[in-house]
Amino acid sequence: MTKVLVATDKPFAPAAVDGIRKVVEGAGFELALLEKYTSVEDLKKAVADADAMIIRSDKATREVIESGKKLKIIVRAGAGYDNIDLEAASEKGVVAMNTPGQNSNAVAELALGMMVLMARNNYNGSSGTELKGKTLGIHAYGNVGKLVAEIAKGFGMEIYAFDPFVAKADIEKDGVKVVDSVEELYKTCQYISLHIPANAKTKGSIDHSLLMSMPQGACLVNTARKEVIDEAGLMKVFADRPDFQYISDIAPDCAADIATKYAGRFFFTPKKMGAQTEEANINAGIAGANQIVNFLKNGDTTFKVN
Ligand code: 3PG
Repeated sequence: MTKVLVATDKPFAPAAVDGIRKVVEGAGFELALLEKYTSVEDLKKAVADADAMIIRSDKATREVIESGKKLKIIVRAGAGYDNIDLEAASEKGVVAMNTPGQNSNAVAELALGMMVLMARNNYNGSSGTELKGKTLGIHAYGNVGKLVAEIAKGFGMEIYAFDPFVAKADIEKDGVKVVDSVEELYKTCQYISLHIPANAKTKGSIDHSLLMSMPQGACLVNTARKEVIDEAGLMKVFADRPDFQYISDIAPDCAADIATKYAGRFFFTPKKMGAQTEEANINAGIAGANQIVNFLKNGDTTFKVN
């Protein structure tokens, strides 16, 4: 029987697993579940006889992909697919997909939630600041960036965006001002919300000079990937400008150093939390299951990324 493996180190909400099961079993397939696994060997064993696999930030490395002797498709239930070795997948004839947009609202809400937390000094009882009237720069105007802009508008923020891949008019019709360069975005905005993917071009691209150019009271909000930050540059920014704050969904590698030296100027989630809501899990998980069924039954390759 065709087997669909759901392999999630960080499990989906139970309601999402129920929904995935309904789709998979409804198609006449078998569902296998591997949650909170502790070693890559467990993942390799589980994928060995699977035809399809749904993952989250779980690493689909070459060795994992090659262990899937019958594997035909991997769906990353989420947006970023930097955790899939696309080259290995293509070599093995395995289709890789993501589920764009399905968990975006959860990520956008977290971005704004962390901004309020920081502006109010981690709710420690002291006098904070408000988001209203502050400038917010959306760095990449995709599914999440667009929603961050929409929610931030409700807070009364003045919103700017930079995204060379989205038509200016499409951004402007959301009431967002478009700037022509990354440099201009950082120079203009007190808050910057990152929504770029992690790839060879973007890794380490958020550097000392960009962050130093931000206006007084600068706050960098990262619900994208920690890898896009140049951490040596980040440490230097913390040292060079006492007003700088950094909020990140998942701690940077230099978190312990920041915690020792710069208390009160950062907030890091202990685990990647952006998409960790029941709604996002249901949306992304069930979309992933449907994509697998449509691919295995009808050859539908919508959302293929390799
Ligand atoms: C994504 O790329 O969709 C988010 O980073 C969510 O990741 P997660 O599924 O591991 O929470």
